[in-house]
Amino acid sequence: MEERYLQKIEETAEFIRERVGRMPDTAIILGTGLGDLVNQIDIKRVLDYTDIPNFPVSTVEGHSGRLIFGDLGGKYVMAMQGRFHYYEGYDMKEVTFPVRVMKAIGVDKLFVSNAAGGMNKEFIVGDVMIITDHINLFPENPLRGRNYPELGPRFPAMTEAYSGVLINMADSIASDLGIRLMHGVYVGTAGPTFETPAEYEYFRIIGGDAVGMSTVPEVIVANHAGMSVFGISVITDLGGKDIKEVPTHEEVQKAAIKAQPVMTALITEMMTRI
Ligand code: HPA
Repeated sequence: MEERYLQKIEETAEFIRERVGRMPDTAIILGTGLGDLVNQIDIKRVLDYTDIPNFPVSTVEGHSGRLIFGDLGGKYVMAMQGRFHYYEGYDMKEVTFPVRVMKAIGVDKLFVSNAAGGMNKEFIVGDVMIITDHINLFPENPLRGRNYPELGPRFPAMTEAYSGVLINMADSIASDLGIRLMHGVYVGTAGPTFETPAEYEYFRIIGGDAVGMSTVPEVIVANHAGMSVFGISVITDLGGKDIKEVPTHEEVQKAAIKAQPVMTALITEMMTRI
């Protein structure tokens, strides 16, 4: 992925421009908890990842993922249905390649969602948390290696990794819609193991409210590219030394599905207001 990086981004962007025509300025990565949002989109164009040049090849058979272009809440957007996780074995350049392509086609606002384990004692399963900041505990940074000034600075600031304007907008919508909306710091880890009780405690001590296995790489690259970012987590399980429940993939999915209506309503309304 490293060699011919700029050419690959442009090649993929050009393919999308040719196939889709109208380019959006807003993209949504549909992580766990936002899958349902697809049903709210008035779909105009769809591209399967398998047909998109340079897109990483999916590890899960039959779930290659799709780029969807259409109207959501009256706003023309692009949605990524299916993302690439570091724990699946993709390298950081692959995980974040779609974000580079988004920027190349003109996207300047990125919305991301994920499932996360809660460490904050006030959280309950099913809560929705706006990500106000993150702690990168992945073993590497997606910007490691050669920097292309065309894409962004060598040492990008991360002081407002998540847009304050978008956070305020979400808060105001939540109060209008009567949604219980938590705020917190997302700790990003490689996975695929869930945390030991001591690790959940440690993440709490260092300032984390929730932990998950995605989002941070994409958000770093989006910031490098000068995009505004909004991130949201659905709290699917709780962790800490007093917590006896064992997190499972099934439990995570179940809790995420339950939170979907709230996540969907919030994001759809945000699209109407931006
Ligand atoms: N830890 C890490 N990732 C997660 C969790 C968790 O507890 N829940 C959902 N994704």
